[in-house]
Amino acid sequence: MNLACIILAAGKGTRMKSEKAKVLHEICFKPLLHYSVKLATDLKSKKVIAVVGHQEATVRDKFGDSDVIFSTQEQQLGTGHAVQCAIDKLDDEADILIVNGDSPLFRHETISEFYKEYKAADASVAILTANAPDPTNYGRVVKDGAGNFLRIVEEKDADKETKKISEVSSGTYLVKKNFLIDALKNISNSNAQNEYYLTDILSIAVNEGRAVVAHVMKDFDEGMGVNSRLDQANAERVMRCRINEKYMLDGVTMLNPESTYIEDGVEISNDVTIHPGVTIRGKSVINEGATIHNGVIISDSEIGVGSVVLPYSVIEKSQIEDKVSVGPFARLRPGAVIKSGAKIGNFVEVKNSTIGEGSKAGHLTYLGDATIGADVNIGAGTITCNYDGSQKFKTIIEDCSFIGSNSSLVAPVTIKEGALVGAGAVITKDVPAGTIAVERSSQRHYKRDKEGN
Ligand code: UD1
Ligand code: CA
Repeated sequence: MNLACIILAAGKGTRMKSEKAKVLHEICFKPLLHYSVKLATDLKSKKVIAVVGHQEATVRDKFGDSDVIFSTQEQQLGTGHAVQCAIDKLDDEADILIVNGDSPLFRHETISEFYKEYKAADASVAILTANAPDPTNYGRVVKDGAGNFLRIVEEKDADKETKKISEVSSGTYLVKKNFLIDALKNISNSNAQNEYYLTDILSIAVNEGRAVVAHVMKDFDEGMGVNSRLDQANAERVMRCRINEKYMLDGVTMLNPESTYIEDGVEISNDVTIHPGVTIRGKSVINEGATIHNGVIISDSEIGVGSVVLPYSVIEKSQIEDKVSVGPFARLRPGAVIKSGAKIGNFVEVKNSTIGEGSKAGHLTYLGDATIGADVNIGAGTITCNYDGSQKFKTIIEDCSFIGSNSSLVAPVTIKEGALVGAGAVITKDVPAGTIAVERSSQRHYKRDKEGN
């Protein structure tokens, strides 16, 4: 394959009604342009050229780490003009794949098949088409009585009869480089939009008696262009379905895949169960047998074998080992490490802290910058006071200690092994191993008078 890919991504996307360039709008957590770049890369395209214009700097910046080569289209004079802007980036490639940057749903298998047909026919140019349930706004494929391809007619240029045609252009082309360069010189902007249409290279090829292929895709969804927020929501649904299907076929149970939002790239082992309304993003890993309950949001975190995350917990950049229970309503902030068999209960917040094996913080607690050993019990309402207004300090709680409810541990402070802190204490000094620390005034009793005072 001696292929280069040109992605058209310079348009403003007026119909999105947005300040943001259309190709930066996301589906399934990734910008639209990501999907075209991935398609080109999966197809082993030697070169990926993106034509950018609207919000060019932001688009370039977002894809700065990729191998994408950028071409600038200063003024958006049409798709044909956009391709013209990329020509000087080509060298010895023979075939060019052209795709719209707003069409994220193509599968690389479909394009591979399309490529084979283009090659077999030794076509000068090939267009990928589909039968649309609603062809409105797409370019219609016009054929003669014998079914030979004639041309593409855009919605705005179409008469009543042409508008009835349901076969539409997906905006994806394969074209011989030499033909492309010549044909682009011959397109004009005498049409309803005064734009240089790329579609016109097809009628040029037909008029020159060249071989032209119109390859009909089975699945219209793949060619769906995202032009409005409605299209975006539809594309999101299709992509979400695809992503979730892959996980389910790999042995993941999803109670309601329609409401399960997984970013492509998350690793999920078999026998994981995911309840409705869950979001899992980034470099997350969910290990065998884990259960993720309703409304949980996980990003860049690992969940260990057999662990359970109860409803409405939020977990970010954290490490949860095996057979841990988290939530409901727990918040694990970056740097939380929850060791095997530990339990983090409701309304517990953990930040940059390690909770040792088998330890428990069951209720209403803040643990920040703390190192907690094994088999520690943290009572309800415990707070590590880790911040004095300018600096952060560490709290260390050694193995088998017991922190009574409603205690404040003022860092830096260490609770040594097997110590017990009595409820309601404000601990400012280290507690020696095996001792009981009590820090509260003694309770007194006064008689009430008849008025109840
Ligand atoms: C285009 C096709 C149409 C096809 C449809 C498939 C043309 C004239 N029309 O229509 O036949 O059915 O895609 O989705 O090609 N762009 C530029 N520079 C420009 C204009 C557009 O880079 O000057 C980019 C846009 O950013 C977009 C892509 O080209 O990513 C397509 O442009 P858009 O305006 O969305 O074309 P459609 O009306 O959807
Ligand atoms: Ca479009």
